[in-house]
This record gives sequence, structure tokens and C-alpha cells, in this order.
Amino acid sequence: MNIFKTDYKNYIGGQWVDSASGKTFEVTNPAHCKQVLATCQDSNAEDINNAVAAAQEAFKKWRKVPAPKRGEIMFKASEILVRDKEDIAKVMTQEMGKPLSETRGDVQEAIDMGYYAAGEGRRLGGKVVPSELNDKFCMSMRMPIGVIGAITPWNFPIAIPSWKSFPALVAGNTMVMKPAEDTPLSVLRLAMVFEEAGVPPGVFNVVTGYGPTAGQPLVEHTDVKFISFTGSTVTGYQVATKCAERMAPYSLEMGGKNAIVVMEDADIDLAVDGVVWGAFGTSGQRCTACSRVFVHDSVKADFTDKLVKRAGALMIGDGLDDKVQMGPVINEKALKKIHNMVTEASATNTLLCGGTINQHPTKDIPEKYGEFTDTFGWFYTPTVITDVDQNDMIAQEEVFGPVVAVISFNDTNEVIDMVNNSKYGLSAAIYTANVNFAFKAFNEIDTGITYINSSTIGAEIQLPFGGTKGTGNGHREAGHSMIDNCTEWKSVFVDYSGTLQKAQIDD
Ligand code: UN1
Repeated sequence: MNIFKTDYKNYIGGQWVDSASGKTFEVTNPAHCKQVLATCQDSNAEDINNAVAAAQEAFKKWRKVPAPKRGEIMFKASEILVRDKEDIAKVMTQEMGKPLSETRGDVQEAIDMGYYAAGEGRRLGGKVVPSELNDKFCMSMRMPIGVIGAITPWNFPIAIPSWKSFPALVAGNTMVMKPAEDTPLSVLRLAMVFEEAGVPPGVFNVVTGYGPTAGQPLVEHTDVKFISFTGSTVTGYQVATKCAERMAPYSLEMGGKNAIVVMEDADIDLAVDGVVWGAFGTSGQRCTACSRVFVHDSVKADFTDKLVKRAGALMIGDGLDDKVQMGPVINEKALKKIHNMVTEASATNTLLCGGTINQHPTKDIPEKYGEFTDTFGWFYTPTVITDVDQNDMIAQEEVFGPVVAVISFNDTNEVIDMVNNSKYGLSAAIYTANVNFAFKAFNEIDTGITYINSSTIGAEIQLPFGGTKGTGNGHREAGHSMIDNCTEWKSVFVDYSGTLQKAQIDD
């Protein structure tokens, strides 16, 4: 079944509709820049107004659908995602660029989240606590917030939208989602999945377009009661400022500068595997990507040799090819930013490998790509930079590309401070055989996620996801905290004594 079309509309109130702007934009394949995959609506404030109005109307009924029933619909959506996993992954590889093995994982995260959230339909509990008075109940209930506005990134085109939508919908909210303009197709597909699963019209709406014209009116809309944002730090600050102006609550998930520590007693091959996967998986475009490695002096030469060999051997190309291990980066702007940062770093640090734009990585096997024999794409070679000081630009600023900085250390007592020397606090990993150091490390590292003998990436949805410091604003998605982001507490006091009883009166 091919339910992908090439001309997409917005999904508002259960209808597929054109933008009021009358304009569309093209979605292209970053592995074949000339390949247009689809056109999508270049939406404006009027489309956002329509979507919010539809979501507000739908909220009146959806909040009253019993939560276990809402959970069953989420379960059905997960079953559809299982059925269509391969199809969705293939389109995602084309719009986003990462290899099929990774886009399958992206869809799997959505499936996992769907099943997990479905169970919440029967667990959305509050607490009953004792009253100070006789014949009186004190209890708390979780209430949906209302219309939630979600702005989602291009690096996990369906996983992150699913982290935002499944919990919000099962908790009785309705939603307007604005996906990243580079990868709207996965979110439009999610809308089709929800529709087929029986999510009523207006409960989940998708408006495609750009940040200033579609994202900003969503953030500013006074009927949108909560904003959930994942994306760049720069945009996150703008979202926070706009929300603060109208006193709207929001959750932000932004950058990272995630470190791997390789101790002198580490399994070096395992650590190299972890760095290759953490730094070059998804072409380094994860907010959990490893971009700093602290290596003990005594193992640095061995570790660095192995890392450079592995980086140089990675097969780069179109992610639809099974042999390809790393795809392109998302677009020309990203490619230039990455290259500028690497060029700047090479003036003070040592470039061990990579550092080049490589727009024709697979031109020797053009027949693989059918009509797109020109494999011209936004490819960057896996890059390892060494002789880096912990305060250098390349050790402090997020690159969001396949670039890793290697920093040596010899004082074990100082390495945790070196990891913490960052404005971000998302993920970190320690490779060691020393159980005492492992415990000390995960206790003292200031990040939302810490791994022991495993890379900085690969978080599972049944634990909270998010970071400290400049990574976010304290909220966590997924896991046992996910419902906190999309509900408000109501405290209920029921007095069945039939008399006027007064709490807190000292008589
Ligand atoms: C992100 O990069 O924004 O832990 C999310 C991981 C993935 C999610 C990454 N499960 O790397």
C-alpha cells in the first residue's frame, strides 16, 4: 500500500486542506539535492488560527472520552505504525537522510511510545491523602491542559513527535503540531495513522511551514495553553521569551555537548565502538551525539589510532543502500555551518581525519540510485580533531554534525569537572571497569542522562528524556514523567459530614 502522496495539505479538523497563503514549499532529499519528494503547505497565521479553533472545539469532547478508551485508540495507532514501519522508514530516509536501519529505529521509538502511553489510559491516577477532618476526602486528579502546541525537529522525524503527541492525547489534550520544514512527511503520516486509529477530527492537527510564519503564530496564540518545543537553542530562547510574555507554560529540549570518558582501564575496542556510533550515527545530528571524548593519556594513542581507522572506513552515501553507514547532513546551511566550525578549529587544533565536504560520496555506483544518478548531496566526511583543550570552541559549541573532539587527561579526579565544563547537560558516558568510579561518575556528572560502558545515544522511552543547564528548562519527556508535561493537578476536597467543618482553625 502506498499512501504517500507528493502534494500534501495541512490536516485541520480532520480535513486535508490548503493553506490560506496559497503557497507551498518543496521537500527535497538531502542525499540527492535535486530530488523533490513532495510539496507541502507554506502555512501562515490564518492556518494556525483555524487549527487552534478546531483543536479547541475538539477538546470539549475528547477530554470526556474515558481515558482507558483514549488509551485503546493510542494502542491501535501503535499497531498501525507496526504494520507500516518499513514504508514510513523508507520515506523518512529520503526526507531526512539517515540510513534505513536508523529510520526503522526512529519508527520503533514511536511504536514503543504508543504502547507505553496507551497503558497510561488505565494509570492516569492521582492520590487520595488523609484529611484533617472527619468525613472528608482529600484527593488530587490529573486534568488535561487544553490545546497543546508542538514544534518538532527534523532529526527524529516521527520519534520526537510521538513523544509529544501520544502522552498529550491519552491525557485528554488536543494538539496542533508544526513539524520541521525539512521533514514534514513523517508527521503528516502520523496524522494519517491517528486518523485511521480513530482519533476524532480536530484532536490532532498538523500545520506545515516555517518558523517565523507558522511556528511563531502557534507560540503566540492565546488559546494554546502549553508549548512543547524540541530544536535549536536559538529558537528555544525565542519560544521561551514569547511564552513568558503571555505567561504560557512551555517545555524546551535543545542542545547538547555530550562527552564520553575513556578511563585507563576501559575496554578500548568497546569505547571506540561507542564513540563511532555516538559521534557519527545520524551524521552526528542528535542532541545526544557524542562530540567530546576525554581519553586517559595512557590509552590515548591506541584509542585515537583505532578511532581514526574506523571513521575513515565508514561507508557514506544514500541511506536507502544497505551498505551505507552514514547518510548526508540535513541541508546546505547545516553543511556550511559544520565546515566553518571545523575550519576554525583546525587553526588551533589538529585535524586527524575528515574535515571535508564530500558531495559525491557514492558516484562510483550511480546505478544504485535509479534516475538520480547524480548522488550530489549534503555529505560531510567523519571528522576527528585532537590536541583540543576543554575550553576550545570545538569542545564547547554544539556542531550537530559528524565531528568529534578528543581531549586527553591524566588526573581521574578532574575528569568529572571536565565533563561538567559545558553550558549543556543532556547526556554523558563513562567507559571503565572500575565500579566505584562508575558510581561516582553517574552521581556527579551534571546531565539528564548518563551511560556506563555504552554510548551517549540510544535512550529508551520508558525513562525520562531531557537535560540540565542550557539543554532545557527542567521538563522531561517520555518515561514516568511524561504525563507531567501535559496535565495539571486539581485538588478535590469532599466533605460528607453535613456540617460546616473548618480546616486549620486552632480552637
Ligand atoms: C535527539 O537527538 O533529539 O537517545 C533525540 C537517543 C534517541 C533520541 C535522541 N533515542 O539518542
